[in-house]
Amino acid sequence: MVMQVLDVDFEPPRKRAGMEVKMEARNLNLWFGQTHVLKDINLKIYRNDVTAIIGPSGCGKTTLLRTFNRMCELDGARVKGEVLLDGRNIYDCSVNVVKIRRKVGMVFQKPNPFPMSIYDNVAYGSRIHGITSREELDRMVEEACVRQPCGMK
Ligand SMILES: Nc1ncnc2c1ncn2[C@@H]1O[C@H](COP(=O)(O)OP(=O)(O)OP(=O)(O)O)[C@@H](O)[C@H]1O
Ligand SMILES: [Mg+2]
Repeated sequence: MVMQVLDVDFEPPRKRAGMEVKMEARNLNLWFGQTHVLKDINLKIYRNDVTAIIGPSGCGKTTLLRTFNRMCELDGARVKGEVLLDGRNIYDCSVNVVKIRRKVGMVFQKPNPFPMSIYDNVAYGSRIHGITSREELDRMVEEACVRQPCGMK
């Protein structure tokens, strides 16, 4: 089964009224070997909005998410088309992949903690973004683990 997301022409009208496009897939195709997994995906992701991608198991949801920070390349996928982040194609050869992956995070379906404490795992992302204050990290870790389990407010 392959994934087909409706073209932007089919978006509800409210999306067109002054909302900033943060990320956009344009004619995005992806193959694993001979298997054509993503076919001509055209999709806009808006800033400060929640976008849900829904479909049956194996239709390509995770694969699509992995194209948004070029993680799919790690599995040897072949990608054609564009993914724009703030208007810039992240598949340009001049793009720094590490910086893209730092900006575009992903929470995996199956948790895979690094071999260190849970505190250090939770604080990891904030630390690599330059937050060093123990007080601030304590607050963020507590917020993530205790006050908002499952990311719910
Ligand atoms: N690393 C890979 N190498 C080869 N094929 C892969 C790889 N990752 C995914 N696929 C194939 O790509 C297709 C889409 O898989 P994907 O994991 O993106 O689906 P999904 O919609 O996220 O499924 P689920 O709802 O079960 O999480 C499947 O046919 C899968 O077997
Ligand atoms: Mg998945």
